[in-house]
Order: sequence, then structure tokens, then C-alpha cells
Amino acid sequence: MGFGAMNLAPVYGRVEESEAADTLLAALDAGFTFVDTADIYGRGSSEDLIGRMLEKRRDEFVLATKFGGNQDSHGILIPGMGRPDYVRRALDASLSRLRADHVDLYYLHRLDPTTPIEETAGVLGELVEAGKIGGYGLSEVSPSTLRRAHAVHPVTALQTEYSPFQRAPEEELIPACAELGVTFVAYSPLGRGLLGGTVRTAADLEEGDWRRGNPRFQGGNLERNVSLADRVATLAAEQGVTTAQLVLAWVIDRGALPIPGTRKAANARANAAAGDLTLDASVFRRLEDIVPRDAAAGAQGNESYLANLDK
Ligand code: ATR
Repeated sequence: MGFGAMNLAPVYGRVEESEAADTLLAALDAGFTFVDTADIYGRGSSEDLIGRMLEKRRDEFVLATKFGGNQDSHGILIPGMGRPDYVRRALDASLSRLRADHVDLYYLHRLDPTTPIEETAGVLGELVEAGKIGGYGLSEVSPSTLRRAHAVHPVTALQTEYSPFQRAPEEELIPACAELGVTFVAYSPLGRGLLGGTVRTAADLEEGDWRRGNPRFQGGNLERNVSLADRVATLAAEQGVTTAQLVLAWVIDRGALPIPGTRKAANARANAAAGDLTLDASVFRRLEDIVPRDAAAGAQGNESYLANLDK
């Protein structure tokens, strides 16, 4: 299990720096050995916090960051972020914020439609050989883009949204990763909090919370998704675990590496504990009966979000 560090930045509402710092330290103390951030989370603030808080504990965890997710004012990717010169500059800026001389994993955050993936994979392969990154990853790319990149230099990890509410990767992407020996990393494994049980109505999302613009958190979609989550909560309670823990155990059972995010130390500890759960396969089948494929109401993101995905 990894610790997703987007929530350390003000994306799902405000976050106090002192609370984010405590959560990060609690995550490491609770046994997380993988921290996954990106240069765009809080425009560098997540990386900066990790650099300041964890500089002295750098040998305790695998550190991953991402580049190439910057968007214009319409939410559309800025072209050219897959070009070699951009990649090298972005890495140097991330390393400086992270106070590190290398990262273990460096992901392309979104495919740059203006640069052939072979060119981006080529420079990432060079950075691996130079020892500045341990390996490279891709995020939200199609199986065919994954294969093209892998042919240039082996891909270490592929990250994509995956949860009981987002199961499309099961069709081709997860099998392609298994075939190529690429680790499949599941972001938003708790459905961006819907499967954590704390978001019940639109009023639970403060102004500025990114999720307000996400169709799954709007109107009738939100009601439908909360009622699905309530039924998962009943199943979890029967098993003596929380909804989030049941869902994380299911994601792991599916062969994926989840990176749940949280602003709260207590939730980081509870999520770490989910990594040690042993639940019977019949429990996971019941979860899938409650939330069949495509059961979640609403698209995974708004139009510009979807436009930036490589399908
Ligand atoms: P993302 O990858 O986009 O961050 P996620 O991991 O699916 O999304 O969900 C993150 C959300 O789940 C956060 O809003 C977080 O809320 P807190 O910051 O209040 O914790 C929520 N979340 C994470 N762990 C949780 C837990 N153990 N119980 C309840 N909610 C949790």
C-alpha cells in the first residue's frame, strides 16, 4: 500500500500545513513505505512538504513523483510536457523541492498528445541509466501506449483510477500490466472519498473542493453513490472493519497497489492496517454483488478531465 500525497495539498478542500505534516509522519510511523506525490499537487506544495518533513527519513520509503499534468485555464493539458528538455527541467525542479538527489519512481502524469510516447520513454530511460530516477511510470494511458513505451525502456509502474466505483482497468489494462511485469497502482481507491463514508451530501464538500465539479458528487448521482457506499458499510461492519479498510483490502486482492490519500493521521493509520487484513474471498464477492461493474453513477470526471485521458 502506498500513501497518496495529493490530499496534503488543498485539492479536496483546505488543509492546515501542521495537520498535513502530522499525517505524513503518522503514515510513515504506521508502516507506509511508499509515498506517491506529483509536482502539480498544490503547485509543488506537496513535494515541498515531503522534502521538509522527510528529508532525514529518506531511506525508510520509496518515493514517487510525477510531471506533465499542468493544465491551462480550461483544464486542458499544456502541450509539450513529454519533450525531453521539459522532462529534465521538471525533474530537477521536483528534486529540489523534495530535497533529494533522486526519486525511486518518476511518472508521466498524463500523456502529452504532442510528443510521441517513444520520445518521452527514451529520455526517462536515460534518466534511469543516469541514476536520477530508479524507474519510470505512466498514468492514465491506454494499453497500446503502455506497450509502446515498454518497448523503448521497461515501465516500472502504471497508475490509473481504480476502485469498486471505477473498474474499467480490469478489462485490458490490469491484464497488460500483469503480462509485462508492470506494477499496477490504483489511485482514488476510495472513490475520492465516496467509499470512505464521510461525504454524504454536496454540503460536505467545502467551497474550492475539486470534487464539486465531478459528476459523481453531484445531485442524483451523489445520492445513488452514497446509497451504494452505505450498503458496503453494512458489509464492512459485519466483518468488523471500516468501509475504507474493506475497499482497500479488495483492491489489494485484485492485484493492485492502492494509494489512498488522507489529511488525517487517524485515517492514515486505519488505512495502513488494511494492508494486513485477511478477509474471505466470499466477502469480496459480496462487495462486487453490492457494487457491480459500472454501478457508480456519473462520469469519473468533467469534460476536460476526460479529454486529458489517453483512451
Ligand atoms: P485520492 O486518491 O483522489 O486522494 P481516495 O484515496 O480514493 O482519493 O480518497 C481520498 C478521500 O478519502 C479523502 O477525502 C479522505 O478524507 P480525509 O482527508 O478526511 O481522510 C478519505 N479517506 C481516506 N482514508 C479514509 C478512511 N480511512 N476513512 C474515511 N475516509 C477516508
